Amino acid sequence: MKKEKRIIFAPSILSGDFSNIKESVKLIETANSDWIHLDVMDGVFVPNITFGHKMVEDIGKITNLPLDVHLMTVNPENHIDDFIAAGANYITVHLEAAVHSHRIIQKIKESGCKAGVSIVPGTPASSLSELLPFLDLILIMSVNPGFGGQNLIESTLDKIEYLDDLRSQKGYNYLISIDGGVNRDNAELIRKKGTDVMISGSSFFKSANPAAEANLIRGNKQV
Ligand code: DX5
Ligand code: ZN
Repeated sequence: MKKEKRIIFAPSILSGDFSNIKESVKLIETANSDWIHLDVMDGVFVPNITFGHKMVEDIGKITNLPLDVHLMTVNPENHIDDFIAAGANYITVHLEAAVHSHRIIQKIKESGCKAGVSIVPGTPASSLSELLPFLDLILIMSVNPGFGGQNLIESTLDKIEYLDDLRSQKGYNYLISIDGGVNRDNAELIRKKGTDVMISGSSFFKSANPAAEANLIRGNKQV
């Protein structure tokens, strides 16, 4: 188990109210969140369809929080320019969807955006090895992507520990983010693996007190 650090808390707008995005963004802000996580799904890479770059652009107009875009699409290279133009701060593509992942990372970084790569539960963390020196963020999927409200797959948490150890050994600079099924009950375990960013969709938005939920997830003592 590792020493705990300051957690970046990033609610996923996916579990918010799409008919009242302003209210959902306000809820995220009043809970002292650090980023907004935006799940872009294309109905091909994952079964679900959510929204595209216009949503990201419009949310950027009503908040100063960094926009953390998680692209769950095939051919992510076809969409990068649109999300850069929309004002994304982090753009994360899936290793499983990106044949030329290295080129995509370079392109994102050249634009001034931060570049992330995500892996689904069935992909080993070792498959990221060639990319590690270039990454700003690694997003570990702790559920099979496509939907909010699923249960966390605990074995995926070992990847955090592995990537955190490699980071200290080799001096890499990426943040490690965990996405899927995060809640107050499993948060401490996740934090102790060496996570930097905790994403929460349903546990945050479905809570009777989202700000308290946020505090519990990030490990703040006062709730
Ligand atoms: C799943 C998405 C997640 C999801 C998390 O495919 O990438 O960001 O919104 O939602 P919860 O926290 O409900 O699992
Ligand atoms: Zn996500």
